[in-house]
Amino acid sequence: MEQGGMDRLAFYRRDLEALSHASRLRRLNARRGVDFSSNDYLGLAQSVRIRDAVAAALDRGVPVGAAGSRLLRGETEAQAEFEDAAAAFFGAEAALGFGGGYVANFAVITTLPQRGDLLLMDALSHASTQEGARAGRAEMATFRHGDVGYAEDVITKWRGAGHRGAVWIAVESLYSMDGDRAPLDDLMRLADTHGFLLVDEAHATGVFGPAGRGLAHHLEGRGNVVTLHTLGKAMGGSGALICGARVLVDFLINRCRPFIFATAPSPLMAVAGQEALAILRDEPWRQAALQDRVALFASQMARHLPQVPLSGSQIVPLIVGPDAATMDLAAKVQARGFDIRGIRPPTVPEGTARLRVSLTLNAPEAEVIRLAGVLEELWPDL
Ligand SMILES: Cc1ncc(COP(=O)(O)O)c(C=O)c1O
Repeated sequence: MEQGGMDRLAFYRRDLEALSHASRLRRLNARRGVDFSSNDYLGLAQSVRIRDAVAAALDRGVPVGAAGSRLLRGETEAQAEFEDAAAAFFGAEAALGFGGGYVANFAVITTLPQRGDLLLMDALSHASTQEGARAGRAEMATFRHGDVGYAEDVITKWRGAGHRGAVWIAVESLYSMDGDRAPLDDLMRLADTHGFLLVDEAHATGVFGPAGRGLAHHLEGRGNVVTLHTLGKAMGGSGALICGARVLVDFLINRCRPFIFATAPSPLMAVAGQEALAILRDEPWRQAALQDRVALFASQMARHLPQVPLSGSQIVPLIVGPDAATMDLAAKVQARGFDIRGIRPPTVPEGTARLRVSLTLNAPEAEVIRLAGVLEELWPDL
């Protein structure tokens, strides 16, 4: 497309070509094969109970769309009831819904930490936390992944420079690409001295803690703890909840631009979320069955590929290293009927491209066993 002698699309074309040369071009690929890549850990995305609850809500006139911002016409009984139920379930004073976890993280981090505060995040924090930190008012710093001593050193230096603001420590309870856990109790001690703890429970909600209340369930309800529970992963729907002190939720309602200036989430998703909470309470076998899948895969991998370290959770990064070898392996594993995706930098650090195996109730045990054998057969000699 030539305009005024200049090809205005040339920059974008060149950028994509460079990505392609570096084996980093991303494409949208339809789902195919046995699910080893979704975050639908408990298999609730296809839940009959949730579908029936949503169908019943439609029948009694719950609208598909909220039709406005929460502060205007978009406020619905379904959303308010869901938030009350969720706050009670997770043990928080209050909960506030957002359209997704990305926007919820961004919203909280750009709204709660103030000028003069420090936002201190784990180096492997999700893109939504990093973008929020960049766009927010607080000074930002990172600490080495999972290293509380490092975090403490950063705070000590910051205090030493005379800063008196609050420190907001932002972590994931279960890291999305590594499947390992944050040292929450040690970080809580730091937060108790210096400020607040923000815990992104995206991959732990529904999976860990009593009835799936998450890895930070014992910290919920404290005035200086804010948690994020996504609805699009183990809860089987979409959206997210921020849980915390009533005053912080009221502050978000009044000051958070991504909340104020956005159409409220679909009321049907609130109905779906509320049913998902009921399922978590009524069907603890799902949590147990998922842990059985994790143990089964670990035992099979120990037999077939003992040199590859495992995470101990439902997220199992199998680190290959080079981008091209990773994508090649992913394609070969996919050709055997498994939906497994390769993850490359910049999503993960340079040199750590990997297959991210996600264990869910959607993959039968026989397929978990078959996968380990196929991985042994196809694993590259690098
Ligand atoms: C740790 C973490 N936080 C937040 C998000 C964003 O959540 P959502 O997919 O609901 O936008 C994700 C999802 O990819 C995630 O892995």
